[in-house]
Amino acid sequence: MRILGIETSCDETAVCLIEAEGEFGPGFKYEILGNALRSQAKLHAEYGGVFPNLAKREHGKGLVPMLELALHGLTTASTSTAAQGVKALPKILEREPELLEQLVPFLERSGKPDIDAIAVTYGPGLEPALWVGVNFARALSLAWHVPIVAVNHLEGHIVMSMTDMQPRQHSNVLQNVRMSGGLADFEFPILALLISGGNTQLVLSKEPLRYEVVGRTRDDAAGEAFDKVARMMHLPYPGGPHISRLAEEARSEKQESEIKLPRPMLNEDNIDFSFSGLKTAVLRILAGSVPVSDTLKKRLAREFEEAVADVLVGKTLRAAERYGAGTVVTGGGVSANLYIRRRLADSLAEAGAKLLVCQPEFATDNAVMIALAGYFHAQKREYANPDILKATGNLRLGNANAS
Ligand code: KG4
Repeated sequence: MRILGIETSCDETAVCLIEAEGEFGPGFKYEILGNALRSQAKLHAEYGGVFPNLAKREHGKGLVPMLELALHGLTTASTSTAAQGVKALPKILEREPELLEQLVPFLERSGKPDIDAIAVTYGPGLEPALWVGVNFARALSLAWHVPIVAVNHLEGHIVMSMTDMQPRQHSNVLQNVRMSGGLADFEFPILALLISGGNTQLVLSKEPLRYEVVGRTRDDAAGEAFDKVARMMHLPYPGGPHISRLAEEARSEKQESEIKLPRPMLNEDNIDFSFSGLKTAVLRILAGSVPVSDTLKKRLAREFEEAVADVLVGKTLRAAERYGAGTVVTGGGVSANLYIRRRLADSLAEAGAKLLVCQPEFATDNAVMIALAGYFHAQKREYANPDILKATGNLRLGNANAS
């Protein structure tokens, strides 16, 4: 089955084409036929975070070029079928004029590609940004007569982290390098630690594609805390990789810190998180140390990263034990952090459990994760009705049948 994946929930405009076969298990195989991603991070940097209307506009401008890159010649010559669907597009894309302007000529010059379904993120995320992807999928579905699978972004992260890839073949995700893989070895129940800019959750999965959120942050997400702390240190957005780089420098230079930050809720007997106190503690230290030296920044970055890691590791171990999960999956932008990965992998190994992660470049938002999750739903013919499909900014994971 060939699936076109579309992701626009935040500040990445991404489109991909995958081919997949087999059930959710050892027989599953997939190949990435085309993959294109344009990050808007630099544009949002001056706002210190993602500015929703700018994200919406940039998705509108970027989707057709990303689609063309992802399909890279896999379309045939134009057919009258596609051209007929084009007539209804102005209504579907009335709020995305830049997209309409590029999509109509694209559809007129290129025919329907050989695809079986379109998988699109419909939540959670920034609603104006999500709508662009959803309306793009609706427009393509109409023009090409292909069904839509509405994908929960968080499920995309989980499924992505459960796949394995041939190491040789993932050298450059942004180019159309052919990559392939299957699913890693795992056993249910699985615990997923989702750590991104908008979410920090522990999710239990007892059977394929069924989820129950068992722990969550009570305030900031882990990535949000990284970004806010980076901003306090005048580091660019997104701040996670910059904090991580400084922390790594402090570790390699053996910069021991006299600073001790809190480990919020670590010793409480629950599996929820809180990161806003940690951020406030950093703010207080910075405010009391003007001018802030580079050494202080490094030491503080290290202590902050280690505090976040301690909490994530502690809560994940507690949850894995509570639910008897021998396989833990982690996904979302913060799971690209190598120190956090190492700490999670080591602690879980000590506890007799194993950690599944994807390549760091697939831990942040991308379209492959949406196409992969979409494939499993397409296999079950769980299609959305394009006439009523809505972007759902606060979409939750699960509640269906996991407990
Ligand atoms: O999953 P993602 O790409 O987007 C959503 O939030 O949905 O995650 C982005 C977040 C940002 O907060 C970014 O600072 C953080 O992931 N991040 C990192 C690292 N790389 C990205 N945080 C810590 N260490 C990293 N290496």
